[in-house]
Amino acid sequence: MAKIKAKAAQEAFPLDRAFTFVESGPVLLISTRHKGRNNLMTVSCHASLGFEPSIGIALGPWNHSHAALVEGGECVVAVPPANLLEQVVDIGNCSGAAVDKFSVFGLTPLAASAVKAPLVAECLYNLECRVVNRDLSAYHFFVLQGLKAWRHKAPSDPRSFHAVGDGTFVLDGETVDLRHRMTKWQHCI
Ligand SMILES: Cc1cc2nc3c(=O)[nH]c(=O)nc-3n(C[C@H](O)[C@H](O)[C@H](O)COP(=O)(O)O)c2cc1C
Repeated sequence: MAKIKAKAAQEAFPLDRAFTFVESGPVLLISTRHKGRNNLMTVSCHASLGFEPSIGIALGPWNHSHAALVEGGECVVAVPPANLLEQVVDIGNCSGAAVDKFSVFGLTPLAASAVKAPLVAECLYNLECRVVNRDLSAYHFFVLQGLKAWRHKAPSDPRSFHAVGDGTFVLDGETVDLRHRMTKWQHCI
């Protein structure tokens, strides 16, 4: 009886929307420089792969940024603040082939130190990266190795935001401090 009740708590969900269960890291901007032009695109399909840091991003060949990443082998991964949400969505709805996105969306490119792609001055964090692995290119997956990291000194909004996958977004909320329970992981604190 209890088993039937438990099953009733769950209903079938469309498999082709199941990525939305886990598409919850912060929405990212990927900054590239290719053939003398800077570009930005929005990416929400990504994964933290390790502490080195290694980051995986799924970036399809239909994007103008794809050639920059394949041919240049480097980029900047930037974490935009929540007060840039609308611009970040618009950045993901136009092509760098037609638009200078830094200029149109009022963002400031800053010289990076290890890659040609620019940092995004307004972002909470910037991570200069090199592409180190393309074994999963069938999934349009790039493994990036972080080379140099930056943090905004005084962000206009400290919150990042997360894509649900259906055009809605969740802004960061309450922070819960459980550092006292991280007894096995003191070196991370
Ligand atoms: C919220 C959001 C998330 C996105 N996530 C991804 C993603 O993870 N991978 C991808 O290839 N494209 C993603 N896109 C689409 C690209 O950002 C979009 O195709 C963009 O126009 C590419 O710019 P580009 O052609 O200048 O490179 C996303 C778009 C939005 C609005």
